[in-house]
Amino acid sequence: MSNQKGGVGKTAVAINVAGALNEQGHEVLFVDLDPQGNATENLGMREAYDEGPPSLFDVLSDAEQRSYITNLVREHEEMDVVPSNIDMTAVEPELTLSRRSGQQLSLALEHVEGRYDYVIIDCPPFLGNLMDNALYAAQNTLIPALAETTSKRAFELLFDHISALEKDYDIEIRDRGVVLNRIDVRKIQAREMIEWVENAFDDTPVWRVRERAAVQRAMTEGSSLFVEAPQCDQVDAFREIARGLDKQFRRRRVSHD
Ligand SMILES: Nc1ncnc2c1ncn2[C@@H]1O[C@H](COP(=O)(O)OP(=O)(O)OP(=O)(O)O)[C@@H](O)[C@H]1O
Ligand SMILES: [Mg+2]
Repeated sequence: MSNQKGGVGKTAVAINVAGALNEQGHEVLFVDLDPQGNATENLGMREAYDEGPPSLFDVLSDAEQRSYITNLVREHEEMDVVPSNIDMTAVEPELTLSRRSGQQLSLALEHVEGRYDYVIIDCPPFLGNLMDNALYAAQNTLIPALAETTSKRAFELLFDHISALEKDYDIEIRDRGVVLNRIDVRKIQAREMIEWVENAFDDTPVWRVRERAAVQRAMTEGSSLFVEAPQCDQVDAFREIARGLDKQFRRRRVSHD
């Protein structure tokens, strides 16, 4: 989940897509790469965020502690979680010092390879080493954004950054979809922006999630809508995203087999 713009719903979309994938029978690992630890707290793991070392900080900044990631994994009823930690606030400069600054998460995730169908990484709201680590590890991105004109500039900055990263590491990062979030169809700006995004991303799915109090409430209560508010109409929006991702990844697997 990447978008350097803050508060667009990266964490909300990440948790609910994870919930939808779980409902569809997938094993999901959720990595909270944001030093703010919102997802960690939302998923009821505040104590892991406050815990002393070793944490995700050590896994990312010390090659010798990389395999410790398997000990960090916590169980949530819908997914496994690698929680963030208070120490993650100091990880950006540490990563800059490392020789393979963008590859540390990918190297760590090798230790859980094969255990999950999906790994969802919740990014922090800045274009730094952490986001690079997420993009390098996933080499796929889902972009939550608000249906506001300010999102145009955010897309531009994000895609410039992704292009530079692809060049630096000689990789290809695929955009798997845009999730227009917190849509209020009564607003003209929202309707115009939906149209703009659908034109701008002609080969990429554009999914829509409405503004709903239940999304916020479910987050504070520790789970996705699928557990906390299955009656909310937006569960269908997240089901559609999960099915769309499934289709994209399955199709790829078939064509490779
Ligand atoms: N569809 C929605 N309807 C209502 N509220 C929402 C919706 N999506 C997100 N929110 C709320 O909006 C706020 C910001 O969402 P969220 O924390 O997911 O954004 P973010 O992009 O992860 O933020 P940050 O950049 O700080 O990591 C939260 O309070 C969240 O509960
Ligand atoms: Mg967030």
